[in-house]
Amino acid sequence: MTKPKHVESHAALFALSSIGKRILVSSWIIALRMTDTLTFSDEQARRYLSAGQRPERIARRKGLLGALAVQPGEHILDIGCGAGYLAAEIAALVGSGGRVEGVDVSEDMLAAARSGCHDQPFSSWIRFSRADAAELPFPDGSFDAVVSHMVYEYVTPIDKALGELRRVLRRGGRTLVVGADSDSYVWHSSDRKRMERVLSAWEEHVAHPRLPRDLESKLRQAGFDAVKIEPHALLERDAEHHLIDMVAAFVPGRRGVTSQEAQAWAADLHELGRSGHYFYGATLYWFTATVAS
Ligand SMILES: C[S@@+](CC[C@H](N)C(=O)[O-])C[C@H]1O[C@@H](n2cnc3c(N)ncnc32)[C@H](O)[C@@H]1O
Repeated sequence: MTKPKHVESHAALFALSSIGKRILVSSWIIALRMTDTLTFSDEQARRYLSAGQRPERIARRKGLLGALAVQPGEHILDIGCGAGYLAAEIAALVGSGGRVEGVDVSEDMLAAARSGCHDQPFSSWIRFSRADAAELPFPDGSFDAVVSHMVYEYVTPIDKALGELRRVLRRGGRTLVVGADSDSYVWHSSDRKRMERVLSAWEEHVAHPRLPRDLESKLRQAGFDAVKIEPHALLERDAEHHLIDMVAAFVPGRRGVTSQEAQAWAADLHELGRSGHYFYGATLYWFTATVAS
């Protein structure tokens, strides 16, 4: 399905609008609050929250909107909406005859999302609520489409959550679920063995580090038809990327990684960035599926 032309131009305008900047500021406040646990400096926090406004993220959201084939008047749910960038762009597309719900388990993320959208033209048809993907607070068949970007790998009762995803879609409804597989990371380091240890410890930040390889069968089991998988390559050449410092804060004490080792790992990546040798690649898998009419 292709998007109508007016929908595309509306989305482009939205991407440049003030809401993106406002979400950026809200996320910055969240990131500063995280400094206690993640040892972010102010500068690192600024990088962390600016991730959603990076050109590759904006381009990816444009691709997601196209894959979801958002139409005016639709009712759409974003599960694990985070700071609400994608949900807001969907709201701009569905228009006043539509409705968008964003759910997340993080109150901080929801606060950022609400702050970014509260005085936008679409604020009356978008809502952000705290809810777990495994217990969605919506009646059966509530939505025309449901999107979830990089979330199900965090959800421990995955089969229950996919059952909920199916339940809240109407007959003929569609979903777009995006996830990454830990084994797809290609992250350049001066010390490959250390990189392997750090990536092994980082796997603990999700419940299902290799979900994509099982997701097609899980979606079918949950009652979806026409499941399709599209791989999308991700490439980062900028060491300012926030992930380095998040990983360095998370891994000490896990799978034998020490604080010193984590710091040396992060310092190496930043040095590779300064010398123009930073390289971070991964494959994101986009799953589309429908509910039989
Ligand atoms: C990697 S972030 C992705 C956020 C957003 N979808 C995006 O792409 O920017 C994962 C999000 O999933 C949320 N999350 C984790 N477990 C969840 C659950 N069980 N139910 C709902 N949201 C969850 C987190 O709070 C976080 O906002």
